[in-house]
Amino acid sequence: MRLLKATAEACANIAFIKYWGNRDHERRLPANSSLSMNLAALRTRTTVEFRRDLESDTVQVDGRELGGKALDRVVSHLDRIRSLHGTLREKALVVSENSFPADAGLASSASGFAALTVAAAAAAGLGLRTDELSRLSRYGSGSACRSVPGGFVAWDAHDEDDRSFGRTVAPVGHWDLRDVIAIVDPAAKEVGSTEGHRLADSNPFQKARLEGSTGRYRAAVSALLARDWDRLAAVIEEDALALHAVMMTSRPSLLYWQPGTLAVMRAVRGWKAQGLQVAFTIDAGPNVHCICTAAATGEIEAMLASVPGVMHILSSGVGGPAVVLSSSWAGG
Ligand code: DP6
Repeated sequence: MRLLKATAEACANIAFIKYWGNRDHERRLPANSSLSMNLAALRTRTTVEFRRDLESDTVQVDGRELGGKALDRVVSHLDRIRSLHGTLREKALVVSENSFPADAGLASSASGFAALTVAAAAAAGLGLRTDELSRLSRYGSGSACRSVPGGFVAWDAHDEDDRSFGRTVAPVGHWDLRDVIAIVDPAAKEVGSTEGHRLADSNPFQKARLEGSTGRYRAAVSALLARDWDRLAAVIEEDALALHAVMMTSRPSLLYWQPGTLAVMRAVRGWKAQGLQVAFTIDAGPNVHCICTAAATGEIEAMLASVPGVMHILSSGVGGPAVVLSSSWAGG
């Protein structure tokens, strides 16, 4: 059997309606549906080469070799792809580069596992459709399933594995929204999302969050499709705050905010009151994503630079789907 080598690229995504908690942790079947926008400026490019001369999977991210749990997570994902293939036993050399600064605290499991899945599936010659690639990415990292299709992507919550994947609800050109990201602390988070999702199970506030989640998800999809900024902005902030209420009240408590986080949230509220089209959202970390219309972007970028605690700013428009950039016969 001749072996292939393939390179793929995927965007990170920012959720307007957040994924938090699983109905099935092993298979990453989410507790609620989520909605996100792919980020064109935050991409991961990954090459996977299955080689006969390797004794174990080797993974490099931004020039550093992975070890420990981070490596185990990638190896498990490669094992899934080898078992889907059936007879592929060879170990892989995985080389991954992020387009955004490694020290910005934005390292994304979404773009990482989407690019890994698409590259490894191509290298293994699996010939999967977009929905199948999305579903497979979900096993590596839940939010990665939303980075496989392009534009604005919904991930529906289902009990059945084969119905839980990301699908485009509006293409890249639907609405020129931007994400202006205020980096207030570039340090890696102490508690990652995988552990956080599990903590939600025993938190009574998660029940209240989930009760409102379907309504917020529907409102966000309909506001997005109608390009209704005011409705979308309101639900984005409400959903992010519901997420952080759950995080803060988990045991142990996950308090991701730093002083700079709150300073940006308050600044955004002030800019909104002046009529600017901007809303904040925050993932499992301290950095604040200012979602805004194209017309507001320049002003938001300029004003963010002088908010206390803001160290860097990164701006992105809407990104496309994960793509295979090249494939060729492998050397080893
Ligand atoms: C707060 O997809 O990172 O960013 O499945 O364990 O990899 P794992 O979790 P992950 O969780 C994302 C959480 C979030 C919200 C979101 O992106 O929807």
